[in-house]
Amino acid sequence: ALGRALAGKRVLVTSGPTHEPIDPVRYIANRSSGKQGHAIAAAAAAAGAEVTLISGPVGIPDPAGVTTIHVESARDMLDATEQALPADIAIFAAAVADWRVAGAADQKMKKGEHGTPSLALVENPDILATIAAREIDRPQLVVGFAAETQNVIAYARAKLAKKGCDLIVANDVGGTGVMGGDANTVHLVTADAVESWPTLPKAEVAARLVEHLAALLADKG
Ligand code: C5P
Repeated sequence: ALGRALAGKRVLVTSGPTHEPIDPVRYIANRSSGKQGHAIAAAAAAAGAEVTLISGPVGIPDPAGVTTIHVESARDMLDATEQALPADIAIFAAAVADWRVAGAADQKMKKGEHGTPSLALVENPDILATIAAREIDRPQLVVGFAAETQNVIAYARAKLAKKGCDLIVANDVGGTGVMGGDANTVHLVTADAVESWPTLPKAEVAARLVEHLAALLADKG
């Protein structure tokens, strides 16, 4: 069904969690599986695009036919994303850690040497907002995700404006096992429209999203 809708186009996808080091053996992470982002990368490749997938640490294989770059932290993910430009479409499906540990230790912290440590956190760069604000090499379509547990559409609209992206794929993660699960319920939110899809397998969400983005890109000329 996808045909060659994205033949000759370059697509960049971020996926998975990030790991923010505490010391060389410990980190802060989140429950993102990478399933939705990886499925989008695979669907874009199936539609004929040249795809770069920038993946945080996940337990699933690299999709076939996709150039996959593995990163750990949010800062590494930003660097890899900037290096992967230019792209026609950029899709930010990664669950990037909002904070990292300030002054992560470069040796393993030993129990009993400094009492119980406390972790000071500092904010990570926002990769999506950084790329959307670029004057040079801004992708024609910049797509963000918004995982919310309430007021999904309203928060997505606010996020669209705040991050400067063209489309937000909003999903309600309040219910049953979206994170790590195989199905997703999404709403496509732009400045002037909302399109809500039924609950679908993540591969189907990916295929429909790629089709939708190919049409949007074609409209842009
Ligand atoms: O603000 P929030 O984390 O809810 O925004 C989610 C969207 O922003 C996702 O598309 C995510 O990939 C992206 N993001 C990012 N860099 C961050 C935080 C979020 O690219 N540091």
